Amino acid sequence: MIFTFKPENVREDFSVLNSKTIYFDSACMSLKPKQVIDKMNEYYLEYPACAGRSVHKFGRRLEEEISKARHEVAKFINCKDKEIVFTKNATESINLIANAFDLDKGDEVIITDKEHSSNIIPWLKLQKERGIKVVICESNNDNTFSLDNFKKCFSEKTKLVSVVHVSNLDGVVNPIEEIVEIAHKKGVKVLIDACQSVPHKEIDVIKSDCDFFAFSGHKMLGPTGTGVLYGKFKELEKLRQFIVGGETIIDATFDSYKEEEIPARFEAGLQNYSGIIGLGEACRYLKKIGLSKIGKYEEKLNQIVTDGLNGVKGIDIIGPLDASLRSGIFNFNISGMGAHEVAKILDSGYGIMVRSGAHCVHEWFNKHDMKNSVRASFYLYNTEDEARRFVHAVKEIAQLR
Ligand SMILES: Cc1ncc(COP(=O)(O)O)c(C=O)c1O
Repeated sequence: MIFTFKPENVREDFSVLNSKTIYFDSACMSLKPKQVIDKMNEYYLEYPACAGRSVHKFGRRLEEEISKARHEVAKFINCKDKEIVFTKNATESINLIANAFDLDKGDEVIITDKEHSSNIIPWLKLQKERGIKVVICESNNDNTFSLDNFKKCFSEKTKLVSVVHVSNLDGVVNPIEEIVEIAHKKGVKVLIDACQSVPHKEIDVIKSDCDFFAFSGHKMLGPTGTGVLYGKFKELEKLRQFIVGGETIIDATFDSYKEEEIPARFEAGLQNYSGIIGLGEACRYLKKIGLSKIGKYEEKLNQIVTDGLNGVKGIDIIGPLDASLRSGIFNFNISGMGAHEVAKILDSGYGIMVRSGAHCVHEWFNKHDMKNSVRASFYLYNTEDEARRFVHAVKEIAQLR
């Protein structure tokens, strides 16, 4: 395979990186390039106004920048601008659907046994408060998606499927095109939690044919407090409003109000303007490099780490052993050592930052009678040398047991 992508070309855009700092926690939070930070500052320095209300020149400039950002995000996943709803994170995007999609007592929602809390708790809350039923699709033994199990989850009452695209637990990619096809044949709509796919893979929502798609900006070089909900326009039109107030209505009396057009209908109150504009810039930045190159490069780093650590005494990898099935995520435990302990030694002894804990997939850990794990996640600014240094460090730590 030929990899034309070289991290050396981008590393200088990330001011926190240096030879002593290895950042392997991008599945939680990506670093931000200078271009995104500059674009965010541009808002505060040049047109720090309010959108949608002020007709003066700051307001007009801001309107223009937000439209451009919406267009960049739409192009990034191949949809129409009016199908992009800005939220504050993926959690809010999923909650929007949970509260705005037509779900009543007895209706069923299918999720998997590997969802992030943000794609379980909203449904469990509806189960508790509204009497819907949450149906869990069990994964295969190696943690990959089971289409057979999935097909068995449907009933006459199934209304919605809400599944993760790429797992934040182990990087496994779910076959969303097949999932959507199966669901649509049964007249069921599909929401994809795309938090871990949009930053790393080329996405085409038209090709996948999903109805809704939720992701966050902070994992894709964008600012914190930014999220997106994509919806097919005709599906967005069917949604109830969720959070309402300023900017979500055209007119009101003391008795009634007229809803705004889509997407403003779902974007209540004053927005995170600098964040939205920064997210547009993050899309431009990633697109210029090319998502397929980035994804392949991360797999290559994962291959180096997996080759170095698979089979080493005491190291247990979570998910399939084949690195090519785990995107840019290497999640593991060292037997006899706590995950936080390992993460602390990696940080203080080797300058390597990883995530330790249950990664918001508590139900998976509970089911497997495990407490937590150590997760290393790779992105475009990481190097092969860093991957090798990580292997060396983990091997040394495993000997401390
Ligand atoms: C798969 C997945 N879904 C949902 C979320 C929640 O995203 P946010 O914090 O932007 O709401 C995350 C964040 O880690 C995630 O990895």
